[in-house]
Amino acid sequence: MSGDDPLFLRAARGEDTPRAPIWIMRQAGRYLPEYRALKERHSFWEMVRDPELAAEVTLQPIRRFGLDAAILFSDIMTPLPPMGVSIDFDPGPVFERPVRSRRQVEALAVPDEDGLAPFVADALRLLRAGSPVPVIGFAGAPLTLAAYAVQGGGSKDFAEFRGFLRAEPAASHALLEKLAEVTLRYLRMQVAAGAQAIQLFDSWAGLLDERSYRAFGLPYAGRVLAGLAEAGVARIYLAVDAAHLYPAIAELDVEVVSVDWRRPLSAVRRALPGKTLQGNLDPAALLGPSEDLEAEAEQVLRDGLGGAHVFNLGHGILRQTAPDAVARLVDVVRGFDRAAAIEPGTATTGEGRG
Ligand code: CP3
Repeated sequence: MSGDDPLFLRAARGEDTPRAPIWIMRQAGRYLPEYRALKERHSFWEMVRDPELAAEVTLQPIRRFGLDAAILFSDIMTPLPPMGVSIDFDPGPVFERPVRSRRQVEALAVPDEDGLAPFVADALRLLRAGSPVPVIGFAGAPLTLAAYAVQGGGSKDFAEFRGFLRAEPAASHALLEKLAEVTLRYLRMQVAAGAQAIQLFDSWAGLLDERSYRAFGLPYAGRVLAGLAEAGVARIYLAVDAAHLYPAIAELDVEVVSVDWRRPLSAVRRALPGKTLQGNLDPAALLGPSEDLEAEAEQVLRDGLGGAHVFNLGHGILRQTAPDAVARLVDVVRGFDRAAAIEPGTATTGEGRG
């Protein structure tokens, strides 16, 4: 750990850096013409399972924009097929057979580290050798993976899943136990292969009330994160639309919390003391006029002062985003001098005023 470390790792470990590092959730994907060109020849799963293609897609946005971290190109569903759950993408995940009974839960395999997506380890090794910036590995949090597995695919309200938690609490806990163990092994494998930070995506945690989250979400996410405490990597936890859960999330053993755009970072910082904040520009800001994008991004940067901040969107980038808007955003974040911004009367760019 030193001042020469890349900005992203410094901020993720809690350092109040001179400028905020920036990366973007879903930074590789369909808004990029170079991704769409590859997608014409390969299916999504093919790209995920081919280490060279996965590494190539991961680096596309790094080359184009000079972002401060590279996130492995994969999906949160990747460890589920080795457990015996078949999934297709259309474009979101579709489960051949949703998990809806105790018997199905019991039949799920818990493979060891080598049996869980070895192509992911290969892609990470290629990335560590070829990426100019730190490499982030990731996984879905047990609750969010369970939500998809029980629901059988994406959903606005995951009603089937929320019903299952009530109707079958024992089977729910058995499922979450298995998912927590698989997720921990999967992330340990990613760290061993070279991931320098990991993000746990609990995309649907915000659907639960705090009591249900404390029963079915927090303990399992906590177990995965605690299992990586000695791994020497920065740990990031993401929940969306989850401000009502911050009292619980504040208890997680994690360095960074990724927050959505619904509340300013300055307010969130009080709710999550001691954590690095990641976020939280509304992805829709990239669809508006350039001056408004700049103003909104600067507001996020100002709200992020007073503690460690990793600039990001509040959730994944939208597929209709113009790559030029991302380039503009990166310029704004790179040009924002955090030290100058806290001293009133000093310029944010250019020479100091003595
Ligand atoms: O951030 C990155 O660039 C890394 C790649 C990444 C993907 N999925 C690629 C992807 C990551 C980190 C994910 C995580 C993921 N996958 C999450 C959690 C993140 C979140 O948004 O909360 C979830 C819920 C999934 C499940 C999933 N996979 C969905 C809902 C979809 C459909 C997305 C859409 O835009 O319609 C996918 C498919 C998927 N995962 C694509 C990509 C690039 C699109 C596939 C295609 O090219 O058609």
